[in-house]
Amino acid sequence: MANDFTYYAPTRVVFGKGTEAQTGTLVKEQGCKKVLLHYGSGSARKSGLLGRIEKSLEEAGIAYVSLGGVVPNPRLSLVYEGIDLCKREGVDFILAVGGGSVIDSSKAIGYGVANEGDVWELYDRKRQARACLPIGVVLTIAAAGSEMSASCVITKDEGGIKRGYASDLSRAKFAVMNPELTMTLPDYQTACGCTDILMHTMERYFTNGGHMELTDTLAEGLMRTVLRNAEILRDHPDDYDARAEVMWAGSLSHNDLTGCGIREKDFASHALEHELGGMFDVAHGAGLAAVWGSWARYVCKDCLDRFVLFAQRIMQVEPGRDAEETALRGIAAMEAFYRRIGMPTSLHELGIDPTEEQLRELAEKCSIASGGRKGSAKVLQQADMLAIYRAAL
Ligand code: NZQ
Ligand code: ZN
Repeated sequence: MANDFTYYAPTRVVFGKGTEAQTGTLVKEQGCKKVLLHYGSGSARKSGLLGRIEKSLEEAGIAYVSLGGVVPNPRLSLVYEGIDLCKREGVDFILAVGGGSVIDSSKAIGYGVANEGDVWELYDRKRQARACLPIGVVLTIAAAGSEMSASCVITKDEGGIKRGYASDLSRAKFAVMNPELTMTLPDYQTACGCTDILMHTMERYFTNGGHMELTDTLAEGLMRTVLRNAEILRDHPDDYDARAEVMWAGSLSHNDLTGCGIREKDFASHALEHELGGMFDVAHGAGLAAVWGSWARYVCKDCLDRFVLFAQRIMQVEPGRDAEETALRGIAAMEAFYRRIGMPTSLHELGIDPTEEQLRELAEKCSIASGGRKGSAKVLQQADMLAIYRAAL
């Protein structure tokens, strides 16, 4: 059954070659006084992108201060630094130049400046944000979809606690997307990005919360496109068209287009991965690939129709003797794809070998972060989370 829904995608997308040259004009249209230019750990400086953005801001006569150093699994400590800097300098707009980590760090800084109190309380579910500084994005990696999403994921340095917070207040005003900018990515990061993009739609596809034919068709087209182009990029990282397909898919996969009419999204694989990212600092996409197969085998009987559709329409496997065998073939085919693009399909392949005590801690933290229950394909509780972590070893 198709459920009621609200679809809100207010971000202006400026897509194509050389579009970063328009950044100064786009910021100027926002009517701000001073900008925080926020970026990562080195790639944007090294590629020359940051220099071009600075030039574009200067040509448009925009005053700005800079804060670099965002790391993957962005840290709360830098967010605090950014909040102090913005307050001191009177910043009223944040320009994120980077990927999900830089964008999420920008959103957290934006919340911290616009709301009283400790910003971590939002991630700790203690209160809701009332406002956020406006944010613009120049995207350098197709992956998290944060350039059009309402979400923001931050890691608290002490205890490695990774938590998300979502609000439409933080949706970017504009996103500049030049697929060429992603050509400097290491192959591993390109593959991590493709995995994350696929997963954002799969988390909405594997549901017991109703569906719509149009949403399914969009979701299936998106998944097939990313599967095909991820393999093109493995062999030809400079293929502009493949970069463009993947980049646009990254935004559409997480701006909720592929979730319209679905009452419950699953997002259990994401919840399981976030704890791995917090505890072991692994790349998000690789962490997802490492747990997905174990999650899928654990839940597929409870969401069999969707797993069969996935096996037939996306992975295009030969049907098995019964629905369950077909579903399992689809899961195996997806894992084979992950291996082909250099992604792990177990925690060991991810490069971590958690002890039984650490697995228990992961499951406990995952359960706390999810309020005790997570998922739609199958509702998971702490014992289920532990079983999946164990199966993923
Ligand atoms: O910091 P630099 O030097 O730029 O290096 C980055 C980083 O090491 C590098 N990189 C990015 N663009 C590059 C580049 N290297 C060369 N050339 C380029 N053009 O790539 C590495 C990964 O960057 P990062 O921003 O961490 O990647 P991603 O976009 O995958 O973001 C991951 C973060 O987003 C969160 C994840 O949990 C993780 O913390 N997520 C955010 C979501 C959201 N806000 O909606 C949803 C996602 O599910 C996800 O949870
Ligand atoms: Zn993700």
